[in-house]
Amino acid sequence: MEFSIKSGSPEKQRTACLVVGVFEPRKVSLAGDMIDRVSNGYLSDILRRGDMEGKAGTTLLLHNVPNTLCDRMLLVGLGKEREFKDNEYRKAVATAVKTLNETGSMDASFYLTELPVKRRELAWKVEQAVIGAMETVYRFAQLKSRQDEARRPLRKIILNVSRRNELAAGEQAMHHGLAIAGGMRIAKDLANLPGNVCTPAYLAEQAEQLAKRHGLKSDVLERADMEKLGMGALLSVARGSIQPPKFIVLHYSGGEKGAKPVVLVGKGVTFDAGGISLKPPADMDEMKYDMSGAASAIGTIHAAAELKLPLNVVAIIPSCENLPDGNANKPGDIVTSLSGQTIEVLNTDAEGRLILCDALTYAERFDPETVVDIATLTGACVIALGNHASGLLANDDTLARALLRAGEHAGDRAWQLPLWDDYQEQLNSNFADIANIGGRAGGTITAACFLSRFTKKYDWAHLDIAGTAYKSGKEKGGTGRPVPLLTHFLIERAAEEKRKHKEI
Ligand code: BES
Ligand code: MN
Ligand code: ZN
Repeated sequence: MEFSIKSGSPEKQRTACLVVGVFEPRKVSLAGDMIDRVSNGYLSDILRRGDMEGKAGTTLLLHNVPNTLCDRMLLVGLGKEREFKDNEYRKAVATAVKTLNETGSMDASFYLTELPVKRRELAWKVEQAVIGAMETVYRFAQLKSRQDEARRPLRKIILNVSRRNELAAGEQAMHHGLAIAGGMRIAKDLANLPGNVCTPAYLAEQAEQLAKRHGLKSDVLERADMEKLGMGALLSVARGSIQPPKFIVLHYSGGEKGAKPVVLVGKGVTFDAGGISLKPPADMDEMKYDMSGAASAIGTIHAAAELKLPLNVVAIIPSCENLPDGNANKPGDIVTSLSGQTIEVLNTDAEGRLILCDALTYAERFDPETVVDIATLTGACVIALGNHASGLLANDDTLARALLRAGEHAGDRAWQLPLWDDYQEQLNSNFADIANIGGRAGGTITAACFLSRFTKKYDWAHLDIAGTAYKSGKEKGGTGRPVPLLTHFLIERAAEEKRKHKEI
């Protein structure tokens, strides 16, 4: 899909379809008003006759609107003007794109970007329109034997801004939106692939190909390399599978040489059956999504490279399968992590923290400015926050606030949970330095407490995306989250760097 930013009056747009909003009850937006005037009340006539009330989610397609240059005009219901906020705006975009895709308009000129959305500026509206449009046309059909594609799919969207002096801001926002949507697509595709295709080796291959396309540096450590380093925790999980583990490292160096990098660590369990602490069968297929953290790290570093952000970013992806096997971890086994700390594996299904802890220790060697790990880590997080917010825990409050703000802005929110020392004792072990589970109470927090034992040397935040990385049920599929949050976090970091440089 192609996008461009334009400023001009709606009646002069030569386009397959003009997209204009209507508030409830029967109140046309600014662009609609202009069309109404040049067409001698054509729109108000239609509304008066009761063809469109303006309810959210409804549409009305018009042809031959007098005195305009467009082939068609799509009226999109917006709901009540007073209640028109983030979600309502996003829904209007999605409804418009879906309808256009089904009605044969291959290009369209949107006037939805001109609508006032509470507390949101133009850049937000443009970025969300791009992300929302790409999201609406996303399909994962590569493994279906028959593709049923739209006959005349929507190819190009022009986003209109009301003033010429908004063009530059609009264009920048469009680029942000495109980079984020591209990163989300990569993350979704990787996540949606089944476990028998998306193995650790496949992830490594994809990461290497992406590195080649964008001029990133990539390293893949093999089992023997990990043995030499002493990644005993990660390797203990990998032992239960015949798929060899991979430890993937990608470097994007857009910043100054020697500038401390932001390190993203993504959990890459390409299938989590639980190991010997086997999971129940219901919905176990969804554990192919247990590499969503890895997918989002790859998607985000892609977005950073697309935007040429003046930052150094490292993505670290520990990847393996968690399966039951004669050679697998057993409850009670004690393993030695890369940090030297010994871990009693009381539940083999708490494997994410076992692979992450070695990756977090490995991150020290990059002398990071900050480290953010992203993981489908605990079912408890889904119980606590449902499917709307990712869980956020951090050992530094400034970092936590920056991430929360990025999520707010990107429409990809997180919610902070406490990382108080009070919870640490739940991880006591009689036989090792630490146990890998802390009981049912506060499961998301004790998981983060476990990770915190390996992140003492730098500012660190943990995103638990078990509830947000994918959808279950009829709409089963990866969401591409939290690529928007992470990309915005990086965009903000880059902007801060620039401000600092100007001061000096
Ligand atoms: N990958 C799962 C977490 C998960 C559960 C993600 C449901 C998405 C949906 C993780 O490896 C796991 O199994 N965690 C256990 C931890 C427990 C044994 C302490 C869990 O949440 O049950
Ligand atoms: Mn598990
Ligand atoms: Zn898992």
